[in-house]
Amino acid sequence: MAHVDEDTGNRRDFLFIATGAAGAVATGAAVWPLINQMNPSADVQALASIQVDVDGLEVGSQLTVKFLGKPVFIRRRSPEEIEEARAVEVSQLVDPLARNANLPADAPATDADRTMDEAGEWLLMTGVCTHLGCVPLGEAGDFGGWFCPCHGSHYDTAGRIRKGPAPENLHIPVAQFVSDTVIQLG
Ligand code: FES
Repeated sequence: MAHVDEDTGNRRDFLFIATGAAGAVATGAAVWPLINQMNPSADVQALASIQVDVDGLEVGSQLTVKFLGKPVFIRRRSPEEIEEARAVEVSQLVDPLARNANLPADAPATDADRTMDEAGEWLLMTGVCTHLGCVPLGEAGDFGGWFCPCHGSHYDTAGRIRKGPAPENLHIPVAQFVSDTVIQLG
């Protein structure tokens, strides 16, 4: 099982594993408590970066961690998910921008510009719908990616908005692999 190591103390209560369809995080928790984002406690503010060990995360499954008051989805995509996402032209997209904090602001929303590795296996995104901030459900919706049930936004397997009221692709925060199996957020 994957686990989280954080700089300040043991906060494993913030870790959930979401495998399979909706997962424990998303089900029944569509609205992330906004209070967390607007008024973070001192220890959350101090937590400028965390490291997540993704060793053991199986292909086709997802891990959700909480970082700076928001859920972050880390998905190890299956070959089918990668293929589906790569077959899409940027011209077909609602939002043509990658929304990837690790790239220039005008980087296009190609699948390669959304993923962490060249093979496209690792996709990491903030799990907050760009419409009004609900937490989308994984492996759901018309495009096999994420679905936000609040007002019906469908995201594809690269987390790009394809249908519904959300105006932007799911945002990708600053993150990088610091070893073969450890991702640093922030
Ligand atoms: S908040 Fe997701 S569709 Fe409205």
